[in-house]
Amino acid sequence: MSHPATDAPMTDTHASPPPAAAPHPREMIAILDYGSQYSRLIARRVRECGVYCELLPATATLETLRQLGAKGVILSGGPDSVYDEGARLVDQAILTSGLPVLGICYGMQLLAHQLGGRVEPHTGRREYGPAEISVLPDDGATAPSALFAGLPTSEGACLNVWMSHGDTVGALPPGFVAVGRSASGALAAMDDGKGHIGIQFHPEVSHTPQGKHLLENFLFRVCGCSPTWTSDAFIEEAVARIREQVGDGRVICGLSGGVDSAVAALLAHRAIGDRLTCIFVDTGCMRAGEPEQVVETFRTHLGIPLVAVDARERFLGRLAGVTDPEEKRHIIGEEFVRVFEAEAERLREREPVEFLAQGTLYPDVIESTSHDASAAQKIKTHHNVGGLPEGMRFKLIEPLRYLFKDEVRQAGEALGLPEEWVWRHPFPGPGLAIRVIGEVTPERLDTLRHADGIVLDELRRAGLYREIGQAFAVLTPLQSVGVMGDGRTYANMVAVRAVTTSDFMTADWARLPHDVLARIANRIVNEVPGVNRVVYDITSKPPATIEWE
Ligand code: XMP
Repeated sequence: MSHPATDAPMTDTHASPPPAAAPHPREMIAILDYGSQYSRLIARRVRECGVYCELLPATATLETLRQLGAKGVILSGGPDSVYDEGARLVDQAILTSGLPVLGICYGMQLLAHQLGGRVEPHTGRREYGPAEISVLPDDGATAPSALFAGLPTSEGACLNVWMSHGDTVGALPPGFVAVGRSASGALAAMDDGKGHIGIQFHPEVSHTPQGKHLLENFLFRVCGCSPTWTSDAFIEEAVARIREQVGDGRVICGLSGGVDSAVAALLAHRAIGDRLTCIFVDTGCMRAGEPEQVVETFRTHLGIPLVAVDARERFLGRLAGVTDPEEKRHIIGEEFVRVFEAEAERLREREPVEFLAQGTLYPDVIESTSHDASAAQKIKTHHNVGGLPEGMRFKLIEPLRYLFKDEVRQAGEALGLPEEWVWRHPFPGPGLAIRVIGEVTPERLDTLRHADGIVLDELRRAGLYREIGQAFAVLTPLQSVGVMGDGRTYANMVAVRAVTTSDFMTADWARLPHDVLARIANRIVNEVPGVNRVVYDITSKPPATIEWE
């Protein structure tokens, strides 16, 4: 299963997807990443405007951009100062190429620095957080910048933006006009009327309410893009590419029950029909109803060849007596590879299978090419269960390699995946095994599955499921005293966890309405045998993590 999409905090992402492997949409925007915590967010926002874009390393050259067919460039913010030793600059050829360039924050300072202006440390009132800027050109003669088209630009009109910078542009480069100033008089936006625009604030964050409008102005008015990046366009391209890659070969795809692998499989099926076989391994650690739904949806409704392997005994046998979370992860990851390999070999004995389709997402690609991506992940070994068994001799098909999670969901809807599946919360590869704290037994798994089903059911009934990032029950190793009817009980304690998050790297506990919590608790103690107490986890991440193990 692919890891949940991440769009914010905030590693120094230097994605360098090989140009040849990228899709070839008609139009694209290159985002050069100078290490901002918001770089990925810029990419998501541009995609939301219907324009395909990719995050490239700061060192990307004009030649690379030309190969990719970039219609415009966005320079991200970043922690550097242009005067730092080793500060990352932009290839000068890009700035003189005639390609439109939007410099955001540090990106604006780069434009100023490299085109003959002056950058200096910001003095005066600090500019971190919300700010109001006026968007009238300074010289009184120039028309307002195309960036602000459609927004009030009259005398006294203000734009609410989000600022966060140390340096500032002290002297404009030749040919530029100041087209926005903050209340303190600091330069907030500059434009040379020839496609080079710099802004000191962040249009990509939600605290700049008109940010999307500004990005659209850059994309459509300045770069001349049109909003052609849609699910249908993506599906058409992905299908064509799979056909081209696979020829008349055969493909297998491991289904995890999550949306990513399902969409990858649906695309492959649309491309090559029954030459795709899906493999689904029931580890015994899935949520209530999930194995049945995988088989029913793929085999019965969609008519996609599916091998369903009931490996419950095998997994639970190996997990018996194991209490250490990392050991559980290790066992499940290893066992999964073994089962998957055996099934793949069985299929291969009948027909040669050359390709393996996987639901790898763009954030995974960015993460794995990032310099310091691993630190966050070392807290837990997140085995990519359902992923490529190491050492298997397959050629990889990764149709979602350039997609964000929300785009995968849209594609899933367009491909006819049931809504419930499309919007399912992320689920860790090791499944319920890391939500049964302590030893994993079939009985304890059943208890947890039952309680977890109630949590999800009540959230759906309350219409809250989609706004929660992840919600689940945890079976704790604690017993406590209770009273039911006239009798004393000594039974299990279940914890309920629900978090809101945009990236799964940080999360806040969800402020669920008390009546929803009450219904969940009431139903769990009444309906799940062996549980007499329910607690709600009110810790955010950090310092806690989302999962308990
Ligand atoms: P934590 O608990 O680290 O979880 O805050 C962040 C996200 O990762 C998921 N997670 C996993 N996913 N294998 C996975 O595929 C794992 O071992 C694993 N552990 C945690 C977790 O569900 C959350 O979405």
